[in-house]
Amino acid sequence: MARLAVNVDHVATIRQARGIDEPDPVLAAGIAELAGAEGIICHLREDRRHINDRDLTLLRSTVKTKLNLEMAGVDEMVEIAREVIPDLVTLVPEKREELTTEGGLDVASNQGQYEKVVRQLKEKGIEVSFFLDPDPEQIRVAHGIGADIVEVHTGHYAEARNEGEARDRFERVVKAVDFSADLQLGISAGHGLNYVNIKRFENIPRVEEYSIGHSIVSRAVLVGFEKAVREMIALVQDY
Ligand code: PXP
Repeated sequence: MARLAVNVDHVATIRQARGIDEPDPVLAAGIAELAGAEGIICHLREDRRHINDRDLTLLRSTVKTKLNLEMAGVDEMVEIAREVIPDLVTLVPEKREELTTEGGLDVASNQGQYEKVVRQLKEKGIEVSFFLDPDPEQIRVAHGIGADIVEVHTGHYAEARNEGEARDRFERVVKAVDFSADLQLGISAGHGLNYVNIKRFENIPRVEEYSIGHSIVSRAVLVGFEKAVREMIALVQDY
């Protein structure tokens, strides 16, 4: 049975849009765990555009399942990770100008750098995952430098514009999953997965965990909207 790990970044995005203190991604993480999520993910970006240092510290002390910190493999983040000690770090590429993580990490061209990062994280007992395009070469290199887990980037599949494209891109994802499994790597998948495109994974049991954020936050806004309006009406109707 596959696990769901919930990314709470976009709860923080809503908070940051107002620059106040709600909604709190830390509370959202607790609710996700109560609902059965088996992991909580947050991405601490260099520009702190959603999750901030306070969130990470509180998540570390409150998450009861597994805390997965997504981060760039740079000195500042490695230092933070070695202090906070999440259960797992997922190394991702990061560009200031992107709206969200755009592609998988190019570990093959930066092997030496990532080998060092893996060593620094493992010294502290932190598991290391690499967010990679469904590219066997990248997976092979990540395995070679000590990755525990590969998170296969599903964003290109999710963005397919027609059935043929979706089929081809999904096939690449499945091949990457099989390749990773043959190397005895842990396997997760994520980016752009939603309540529709997840269905194609029904018969891919080698994916152990799904990392999903935006579609869950989007749906929460809509499925919770009616209740929230009714609750405010109940407050104002007798005024
Ligand atoms: N996995 C990684 C490595 C990501 O960077 C993201 C986005 O933060 C996700 C999974 C979740 O993607 P989404 O928010 O589209 O579900």
